[in-house]
Amino acid sequence: MIALNADRTSPAQIDRAVAILRAGGLVAFPTETVYGLGGRALDPAALARIFAAKGRPAAHPLIAHVLGVSEARALAADWSRLADRLAEAFWPGPLTLVVPRAPCVPLELTGGGNSVGIRAPAHRIARALLQALGEPIAAPSANRYQTLSPTTAAHVAASLGDRVDLILDGGPCSAGIESTVIDLGGEAPVILRPGALDFPTLAAVAPTLVDTTPRALDRDAERPSPGMDRRHYAPRTPLVIAPSRSAALLDAARRVADGQRVALLLLESEADAPHSAYARVLGPDPGAYGRQLFAALHDLDAGGFDVIVAEPVPDTPPWRAIADRLRRAGVDGPLGAGR
Ligand code: TXA
Ligand code: MG
Repeated sequence: MIALNADRTSPAQIDRAVAILRAGGLVAFPTETVYGLGGRALDPAALARIFAAKGRPAAHPLIAHVLGVSEARALAADWSRLADRLAEAFWPGPLTLVVPRAPCVPLELTGGGNSVGIRAPAHRIARALLQALGEPIAAPSANRYQTLSPTTAAHVAASLGDRVDLILDGGPCSAGIESTVIDLGGEAPVILRPGALDFPTLAAVAPTLVDTTPRALDRDAERPSPGMDRRHYAPRTPLVIAPSRSAALLDAARRVADGQRVALLLLESEADAPHSAYARVLGPDPGAYGRQLFAALHDLDAGGFDVIVAEPVPDTPPWRAIADRLRRAGVDGPLGAGR
């Protein structure tokens, strides 16, 4: 039963969402990063439904969404001063804190481990839902396992179909890239997943923060977080990242000459692109690029192309999460030779 609401989410829809969640069902909802697939975080049966709907392995932990610090403390066995400082600076917002799990947190939420990832989302609809439900909501991104993250309600519907009981429509997500995940369980805080908040912004509050984010073209980088597989966030269409803009244009021209249908993903003007390749320009600003990235890949995936050739993004901190998502969307090897 999917209710996409052209007029966006009303109070009556929040009530309906709460009723579905209380009955053990699943509700997709917008956050400022991407859409989440929500179920009650402390209900193992609801958690099992989330894993089944996504087709995701049970060892991959889910994020518990809360309104703020007092709700987060209830889920944590230990809440440090650093956790307080980070939450104070960045919540509500795109930051997930991984902390020791309190006994009330089911192992189904944590992938069997003793830590729990917690975030307070900033989106008005996510907050209204949390407020009305009065308990934490587990929510991975609302897409099938290893496919592109959803930044609109239509993306959720296309990926999950009737595996979700209700989709709350908040329009396109404002960040478009998932939250930054920081592990606070060790000696020093560590970035487990680069995300919408970049390293310098976080390090200003957590000076000992360790950045594990690989540089832009470091394809072999391993991720320390469970659930961060090399192939993730991937379109069905093969995507190759060229080493430079000129290499991207040259590669596209060669492929066009070969008879391939080519889509180019560019930072700036397509004026110099081969005429028979389709060019999508996302702009030179990381905020705007990030906001559009998944939607552009969803579009290009539906466009019947043989290949997507991407210009590399700059190797600077505000671009690191985007470079990470592009790398995971891509095929291995120089210009995609591996797939
Ligand atoms: O922006 C976001 O974080 C979105 C919205 C819906 O909030 N959610 C999201 O969830 O991206 P998901 O499940 O697609 O990704 C969660 C990430 C995974 O990389 C997972 O491994 C990591 O967070 N994570 C969650 N709990 C963890 C834990 N206890 N230990 C280590 N990593 C954890
Ligand atoms: Mg995800």
